[in-house]
Amino acid sequence: MRLALYQPDIPQNAGTILRLAACLGVPVDLIEPAGFVLGARQFRRAGLDYATRAVLCRHPSWEAYRHRREGGRLVLLTTRGDVAYADFAFAPDDVLLLGRETAGVPDDLHAIADARLRIPMAEGCRSLNVAVAAAMVLGEALRQTGEWPDTPRSERS
Ligand SMILES: C[S@@+](CC[C@H](N)C(=O)[O-])C[C@H]1O[C@@H](n2cnc3c(N)ncnc32)[C@H](O)[C@@H]1O
Repeated sequence: MRLALYQPDIPQNAGTILRLAACLGVPVDLIEPAGFVLGARQFRRAGLDYATRAVLCRHPSWEAYRHRREGGRLVLLTTRGDVAYADFAFAPDDVLLLGRETAGVPDDLHAIADARLRIPMAEGCRSLNVAVAAAMVLGEALRQTGEWPDTPRSERS
């Protein structure tokens, strides 16, 4: 399982996601350009010391990421998703791709994803914070696959 962040805009969100990933033992792909400098104070503060423990791979562009990509299916989290995330059967090598805070992902990227998942929301709500969305879907994906850090390898799917 991996998390991938598409051109993140807000350092506090990226730092929070890095901390989440470090604590749950999941590598992160950061697809640049980002809307901030990676060592920015807000980024470090949100990630605390966990940011240095996270396995972070930086990619200068979507094209570069696409060519070097590790992992299985590209599973996009999007408010325009056609499948509710809890109804999706996750696999241990899925990549959970999160969009930009301001604009999600471009339409061509939306189209090539292997799956497009949404977190159902109350009527009138536009979107969740990206780090909250990451935590909800990663939690469900790890629950289904048994990939929690303290699960013995023999008990994982
Ligand atoms: C603030 S939202 C982006 C909103 C943007 N205007 C859009 O329409 O995609 C940032 C990212 O969080 C994730 N996200 C937020 N709410 C979500 C939801 N209800 N279902 C699935 N993903 C969500 C998506 O990856 C999204 O690209």
